[in-house]
Amino acid sequence: LFPPPSFSTFSFWPSLFLAGFLGLHIADSFVRSQKNHTLIFTKESIIRNCSCLADIHDCDYNLANLMCNCRTVLPSTMEKTNYNSDLTIWFTDTSVLEMLLNFTRVCDLKLSFCGTAPLPTEYLTIWGLRKLRVKNKVKGQFPEQSVTISSSSNNEKEDYLAMHNKDRQMLVYISFLDTSLFNGYSLLKSYSVENVSSITEYFPSLLYSDVFSTSDNKSYVVTFIY
Ligand SMILES: *[C@@H]1O[C@H](CO)[C@@H](O)[C@H](O)[C@H]1NC(C)=O
Ligand SMILES: *[C@@H]1O[C@H](CO)[C@@H](O)[C@H](O)[C@H]1NC(C)=O
Ligand SMILES: *[C@@H]1O[C@H](CO)[C@@H](O)[C@H](O)[C@H]1NC(C)=O
Ligand SMILES: *[C@@H]1O[C@H](CO)[C@@H](O)[C@H](O)[C@H]1NC(C)=O
Repeated sequence: LFPPPSFSTFSFWPSLFLAGFLGLHIADSFVRSQKNHTLIFTKESIIRNCSCLADIHDCDYNLANLMCNCRTVLPSTMEKTNYNSDLTIWFTDTSVLEMLLNFTRVCDLKLSFCGTAPLPTEYLTIWGLRKLRVKNKVKGQFPEQSVTISSSSNNEKEDYLAMHNKDRQMLVYISFLDTSLFNGYSLLKSYSVENVSSITEYFPSLLYSDVFSTSDNKSYVVTFIY
């Protein structure tokens, strides 16, 4: 009734494809895992800045100290930095976040809240944010959530053109993040306003809007994350 299995092209090709697929996949994850990730975490007023090859489970301070190349950063000598690659921060209170992030430039950010005390509503201003991942240690209803920010007038090709064509208006991304979102009371939400030529004019009631210059020739994408 059942013919004996035979070596046919039909059984041979799928396994060849599978092997090829796995090979590519392994090569791909190998290349990706070789990339250094910046992880900054704070524990009992100590700030550690680490370079990690692997993804470390959120808030596992011991493992991070063991697996990553970390150094202690003194708050007094800390300077606001712009992060060109991805940045992960584990934090327990907003004061450290404000020191590390307020008015800095980060494109790809992952924030993990490792504390338990509820956070107040304060606003962080982040330049250039395109991708945000948020994680709460409290195993509530919302484990990991993310927001990706893009503009309708902007895709990768346009990004390229914008960089190489000085006549175009410069697209500037700016995000305001409500720190109480880490309390996990509701789902992460975001709202973007595009084509904003002047932040002060569009959002006159925004606190400290005076820090944004009005005389420049830029088109802002303003995003509120809450
Ligand atoms: C953390 O280290 C990276 C380099 O690994 C550096 O660019 C960045 O400025 C440091 N951040 C702080 C807050 O020290
Ligand atoms: C960020 O800076 C602004 C302006 O100085 C300030 O009003 C705001 O409270 C800061 N954000 C946080 C989370 O401290
Ligand atoms: C913003 O401007 C671009 C091009 O000028 C246009 O394509 C896009 O629809 C505008 N977006 C909004 C939300 O008005
Ligand atoms: C503003 O941008 C327009 C076109 O994008 C350009 O023609 C103009 O010269 C720029 N103005 C200033 C002051 O940079």
